Amino acid sequence: MTEFNTLDDFDFRGKTVLLRVDINCPLNKDTLDITDDNRIQQILPTLKELMHKGAKVAILAHQGRPGDWDFIPLDRHAKDLSKLLGKEVKYLDDLLGKTALDAIRSIPSWEVIMLKNVRELPYEQDKKTMEEHAKMDLVTTLSPLFDIYVNDAFGASHRSQCSLVGFQAVLPSAAGRLMEKELKALGQVFSNPARPSVFILGGAKFGESVKVVERLIGKKIADWVIIVGVTGNAFLKARGVKLGAPSEELLAKEMTPEDLEAAKKLLLEKGEKILLPCDVAVEVDCRRRDLLVGDLPQNHPVLDIGRASIEKFSRVIAGAGTVFMSGPAGMIEKEPFTLGTKDLMLAATHSKAFTVIGGGHTASAAEKFGLFHKFSYVSTGGGALETYLLGKPLPVVEALKAAKNRKCPPK
Ligand code: 3PG
Ligand code: MG
Repeated sequence: MTEFNTLDDFDFRGKTVLLRVDINCPLNKDTLDITDDNRIQQILPTLKELMHKGAKVAILAHQGRPGDWDFIPLDRHAKDLSKLLGKEVKYLDDLLGKTALDAIRSIPSWEVIMLKNVRELPYEQDKKTMEEHAKMDLVTTLSPLFDIYVNDAFGASHRSQCSLVGFQAVLPSAAGRLMEKELKALGQVFSNPARPSVFILGGAKFGESVKVVERLIGKKIADWVIIVGVTGNAFLKARGVKLGAPSEELLAKEMTPEDLEAAKKLLLEKGEKILLPCDVAVEVDCRRRDLLVGDLPQNHPVLDIGRASIEKFSRVIAGAGTVFMSGPAGMIEKEPFTLGTKDLMLAATHSKAFTVIGGGHTASAAEKFGLFHKFSYVSTGGGALETYLLGKPLPVVEALKAAKNRKCPPK
């Protein structure tokens, strides 16, 4: 029994279902084509199950943010989804107008339609409670037309936005299969990980990483924390390593003095559980050169962890019971500097550990290296995963729990 309803808790036959998903995808800036449709692929199990059970489904989703170049309508997403599903998903360029309302009223059983990008609504992104959102016309107009609200938008579950938490206040609500799967996999890693548990944190979000490391070690979730990428450089700096001007300048933009102090304190108090690179790769005349940390500073940018670090970390990963990785170890856009990320992923996938990776760049890197399907689980979360890593509640999950407690009777 979960704290929220799932697809197992309702009879969907003949029911009209509003399905909120996160199919916010990376796009090609010139053509606006979807460059990675993983999030669309991941909603298929829920969608197929709802259709198979005889539901009439309307999909609600967003892409980009108003004012940004990737804020586009969802017709491309509907086309992509139709191809994956082998069945047409009719796209409506309308949300609350007569066209949309008529279409929702007449969805045939076993059919799916997709509504307009919900962020067209000026209030959609307001951060409010579920009760406050339930008063907005998105919820008051659409909820009478639906029997059940299903939320499968794990990737947006850290947002307390209208379409994500408002319907749970008024409609019987359930989590979709992706939401369930994400929470189960993350629960397995963070609640009761098989030991030894190894967490590899990379990427550039240094301030957040300090808090995550504090939590992982403080709550004894992690046996080892391996820190790589720009964050690894920042921790090296906190340990007193002089990296050289190009990397120091980049770090100055990423870290506040408070973050640096927090990292120093963490290294002092919990340093024995934190593994930092012993060597790094810099770019010299367009080529990779590995250097021991002791040979720094150098006037070249640090773009990856070095080979000795890869070897050292791979040994730790090989003996792990759980491996979690979020954030790349180096510059994954530039060839010789993909090595650290790729080899740490290889070590994880060759181990017997339960392996989970997440974060936009990490999942795309795994895809690029052909390793995506070798992990036990790949999370669709970026910001949602960061929120989870910090141990903060996810508003969408909280709203789903509240809907279950309210025991809203099926219509
Ligand atoms: C994401 O990709 O982070 C989610 O779709 C939420 O989008 P947002 O960060 O623009 O709110
Ligand atoms: Mg985001």
